[in-house]
Amino acid sequence: MRTQVGIIGAGPAGLMLAHLLHLEGIDSVVLETRGRAYVESRVRAGVLEHDTAQLLADTGVGARMRREGLVHTGLELRFEGVSRRIDLAALTSGRGITVYGQQEVVKDLIAARLAAGGEILFDVTDVELAGIDSDAPVIRFAHEGTIRELNCLVVAGCDGFHGVSRGSIPASARRTVEHTYPFSWLGVLAQAAPSAHELIYAQHERGFALHSMRSPEVTRLYLQVPNGTESSDWPTARIWDELHTRLATNDGFTLKEGPILEQGVTPMRSFVTEPMRYGQLFLAGDAAHIVPPTGAKGLNLAIADVRFLAEALTTWFRQGRGTGLDEYSARCLRRIWRVQHFSSWMTGLLHRPADADEFSHRLQVAQLEYVTTSTAAATTLAENYVGLPLDWSSRVDTPVTPTVPFA
Ligand code: FAD
Ligand code: PHB
Repeated sequence: MRTQVGIIGAGPAGLMLAHLLHLEGIDSVVLETRGRAYVESRVRAGVLEHDTAQLLADTGVGARMRREGLVHTGLELRFEGVSRRIDLAALTSGRGITVYGQQEVVKDLIAARLAAGGEILFDVTDVELAGIDSDAPVIRFAHEGTIRELNCLVVAGCDGFHGVSRGSIPASARRTVEHTYPFSWLGVLAQAAPSAHELIYAQHERGFALHSMRSPEVTRLYLQVPNGTESSDWPTARIWDELHTRLATNDGFTLKEGPILEQGVTPMRSFVTEPMRYGQLFLAGDAAHIVPPTGAKGLNLAIADVRFLAEALTTWFRQGRGTGLDEYSARCLRRIWRVQHFSSWMTGLLHRPADADEFSHRLQVAQLEYVTTSTAAATTLAENYVGLPLDWSSRVDTPVTPTVPFA
């Protein structure tokens, strides 16, 4: 098999890259270890930044999102029994977010690729990269009982945190920066109408809780839980009890209950691999970085990476100029570190820390008071939450990248 760009992974990053390249007349093949039904039903992210939603619409894959997605112009921060609204639209000249499940984005992208004659191979196994430091990389894999080879000019590693791409870069040629948080999230999908029109981020002495949604009939809820928690530690009654407690307000907020459709525990981690290129291999999305989910940024960051990559590959294939590819990693990393900071800041603002005491609690409340009353502070939250423009720091000529590893 031969193609221009071999893409590993049919998550949002790999599928969107294949779609953007197709629009520029560049061929790709996507290889995915899971089956189509699995990737189309895996419940994960739900918040699309303003520009992510706009990109889906502008490139012809946003019709269902525009019909079924829920546009939000604000969110609630809840603490000390009161709720305060952050008016995202008013603080960002009319920008907002769209609540639309990641698996719906994946379904729409797969349908568009297949309708356009694109090739996605599901259920592949034993994926291996060879020759990525040459100009003729090869991806070896097994499919339907046969060992196959995909010859390409470029490999895009879009295979998520547990994929093979990142590990194909020699350890001496990459550096990782990592932080593990002392808590995890228990995520719950419930067949219940949302109890509010907007997302509620709640800080509570028992830990963080989040009220989100997927549709007018389905609510998505999260609880901060200790690391090492098993999903089975949380029977249904315990989940609802805890959600009622953490989301309660002084003026009688009522949380609507319904059958739990799915539940699972996710660890919280910040992780960055630098650089995101080795030879002809380019990493994108969770393969290169993870952010804690509090800022709702992982999927959006994956989409921003592949926008940069598609642009750089288009210039390379059309004009033979490789400067965009040379700058790819630095361009992505500037945005990634901005988002790492925001996600980590939101996490600290809302979660009960491991060493919680009266002092840390008072500081958290003071910060929440400030963010919900000062226009300057609220704008910082709002502009990051709806998503900074793609090249938000392009006016800075030289990125500030630490050159000496922190010892
Ligand atoms: P993935 O979605 O992980 O896709 C990688 C694909 O590669 C997968 O389909 C995988 O099966 C495949 N693969 C793996 N190994 C191989 C291999 N060897 N060969 C071939 N294929 C392989 N982000 C947000 O923006 N907003 C949110 O609200 C949000 N909430 C979240 C809530 C939870 C509970 C979780 C877990 C994540 C959340 N995220 C959120 C993060 C978001 O889901 C991820 O950042 C996003 O999935 C990244 O997309 P990706 O395409 O890079 O990777
Ligand atoms: C979600 O709806 O899944 C969701 C929303 C906001 C977050 C994280 C996840 O910060």
